[in-house]
Amino acid sequence: MTALGTPDQPMWTSDVIRLRHSDRSPFDPQRPLAEAHLRAILEAARWAPTAHNMQNFEIIVVDDSSVLAAIGRVHGGTSEEFIRENYAQLSFSEEELIRKGTGLLATMFPLSWQDPNAASELATDFDHGFLDATMRSCPVVMVVVFDTRKRAPASERDFLGAMSLGCVMQNIWLTATTLGIGMQIMSVFSSAHVEEELRKILSIPSHLSIAFACRLGYPLEEPDRYLRVRRDIDRFAYRNAYAPRDEQ
Ligand SMILES: Cc1cc2nc3c(=O)[nH]c(=O)nc-3n(C[C@H](O)[C@H](O)[C@H](O)COP(=O)(O)O)c2cc1C
Repeated sequence: MTALGTPDQPMWTSDVIRLRHSDRSPFDPQRPLAEAHLRAILEAARWAPTAHNMQNFEIIVVDDSSVLAAIGRVHGGTSEEFIRENYAQLSFSEEELIRKGTGLLATMFPLSWQDPNAASELATDFDHGFLDATMRSCPVVMVVVFDTRKRAPASERDFLGAMSLGCVMQNIWLTATTLGIGMQIMSVFSSAHVEEELRKILSIPSHLSIAFACRLGYPLEEPDRYLRVRRDIDRFAYRNAYAPRDEQ
């Protein structure tokens, strides 16, 4: 993946939005993020819009190989709940995925995840449940945390705060794309048991919780091209009033 621009000469936003994708391929673990690139990514996070300008995030940049290795020894695992709900998003052919316009191809996942009733022990056969392979294939992990004691003013369950953290994620992701840096969100980091382990490794105090984590790096190879779909605009946009549609 080549860089699309520089922080001074970015590409058109619409191009970057279309080119951004989840990069689940290995990154070069020997190639740290260039300091200017890391800074540009943090600068993008810094300027993310947040409800009431709360700036409700802190970012832990992990690039020390011994800390990455310690994270790799954490058991990620996969819950039965995850397998069941992930299954609901799967399509079993490209035609099905194109017709639905949402979700993912089942073949992207290990075989054991393609059975909604797979026992969780079976489902963790992927990478033996440890984060090791993932951590060995990237030079940097960013862990974005937020203060659970605060919320956006009068926002039920801090929904607006959570949306703000999504804006931080997108700013990071678009900037990484511009710079030719691959990125993958790692939701497993926010699961209760992994978060507990990461608290110890990264000295995260109890009032902070992991919003999301991502692995970043320069891809070693062109990522596997798999089918990515989106709904057509007329399947989600309305003029002046919502109108129910027949959806398959
Ligand atoms: C909040 C959030 C959590 C996600 N968690 C994961 C994850 O744990 N692992 C992963 O590989 N991708 C994860 N993704 C990436 C989505 O699967 C991906 O964005 C979606 O399938 C669309 O594909 P694209 O990013 O290539 O456009 C996550 C994305 C978001 C926004």
